[in-house]
Amino acid sequence: MSKEKSAPDATLTVEGKTYSLPVVFGTENDRAIDIGTLLQQTGYTTLDPGYKNTASCTSDITFLDGKEGILSYRGYAIEEIAEKCVFIEVAFLLVHGHLPNPTEYENFRQLLKRFALIHEDMIHFFDHFPPNAPPMAILSVMVNSLSSYYPEMSDDPLKTLDATAARLISKIRTIAAFTYKKSVGHPLVYPRPDLNYCGNFLNMMFDKPVHPYTVRPEAVAALNKLLILHADHEQNCSTSTVRLVGSAGVNLYSSISAGINALWGPLHGGANEAVVTMLETIHNDGDNFKKYIDKAKDRSDPFKLSGFGHRVYKTFDPRGKIIKEACDDLLEVLNVSDPLLDIARRLEEIALNDQYFVERNLFPNVDFYSGIIYRALGIPTNMFTVMFALGRLPGWIAQWKEQQEDPNGKIGRPRQVYIGEPSRPFVPMSKR
Ligand code: CMC
Repeated sequence: MSKEKSAPDATLTVEGKTYSLPVVFGTENDRAIDIGTLLQQTGYTTLDPGYKNTASCTSDITFLDGKEGILSYRGYAIEEIAEKCVFIEVAFLLVHGHLPNPTEYENFRQLLKRFALIHEDMIHFFDHFPPNAPPMAILSVMVNSLSSYYPEMSDDPLKTLDATAARLISKIRTIAAFTYKKSVGHPLVYPRPDLNYCGNFLNMMFDKPVHPYTVRPEAVAALNKLLILHADHEQNCSTSTVRLVGSAGVNLYSSISAGINALWGPLHGGANEAVVTMLETIHNDGDNFKKYIDKAKDRSDPFKLSGFGHRVYKTFDPRGKIIKEACDDLLEVLNVSDPLLDIARRLEEIALNDQYFVERNLFPNVDFYSGIIYRALGIPTNMFTVMFALGRLPGWIAQWKEQQEDPNGKIGRPRQVYIGEPSRPFVPMSKR
């Protein structure tokens, strides 16, 4: 962050009095008015529902420009990173701030291998969830429980962060795969040290005693790409949750567990599951696109086209573009034909040419095609948001770390404008 010497301060006039507020520039020309002294100077707060205009922090992790459709991690364009890196390289980049050299990469890989198992006692937890328990509920509980099994984090969190980050990144994959195996009643498949991060996950998900699973490089490549595309997205709902919870001094595991719960929502990470459910509904309704487009446009109907629109991107979602291509490639290589893909393509075409969607800058976001790829990989719909969490984890860790290290970091505590009853006398129960 730099405050340009030549940048004039912003002036604000309230009740006839003028106040000066510093202007702050980011490295990619983000501009902000620093209102840190506003309340103290003027007695006023700001009102910004949904934080549409509020930067909650400065950050050097992820940059995105919603108008131009740009996304970069630590300065590297998402298009290049998604093409040339594997997920754990990107995880290292986000957490450590630079791409790993060969030694750092090897050490990180070794840590991931070492930490791949979860404590055997934790495996009993899975048995006590009802059979149809949502995988996101299980994931958040299991991740929170890690704080009891690996409490060394609490003594000096930043000193042990490298190990804790690797532990979390490795274990969340095992927890996710075990959640699935338990839900279908199959024996657990333990992590294998000879497999890479994504291959290991797929093997733990799909290997069976009588039907050994073959890890296909195309599947590994597609999964790497999906996880990379989800790895960070600056101050979105779940990341802000992780930072807010962390700002109270809460340990990394529990802060991440809170983020998992925020991600679960259908307006956020839960959208990938909602997309496939919506496509199935349209398919089962005789491919009646018009009915659902009309519903989405009807303001009295709560229905929205899942996988369309974004709070920040107003031209296109660069992740959506990469995912669409990856989706076409994977389905071709695996020779999979999915009727839902045809519906998705058709829906996109109709929506992109409809005035309602054009005027509101609504176009497919990252979640629109990711579900089709997950289906092609064999991942069940109710695990889609868990997949998002696996991808987003390194971003959450990096953001939590940044928040903890911030010398100006304070406990998050927004203000409000009270609009309730004015002060009034208490009425005893007998007189109410
Ligand atoms: N279908 C139909 N109308 C929509 C949609 C949609 N998917 N999204 C927004 N609109 C309309 C909305 O009704 C409003 O119309 P009007 O101006 O007439 O009131 C206008 O577009 C602006 O929408 P908004 O709700 O004010 O926009 P927002 O920035 O608050 O919400 C959003 C962004 C992503 C929550 C929203 O577009 C949405 O609910 N999309 C569907 C869910 C989804 O795909 N979420 C995943 C987001 S990407 C993954 C992630 O990073 O979490």
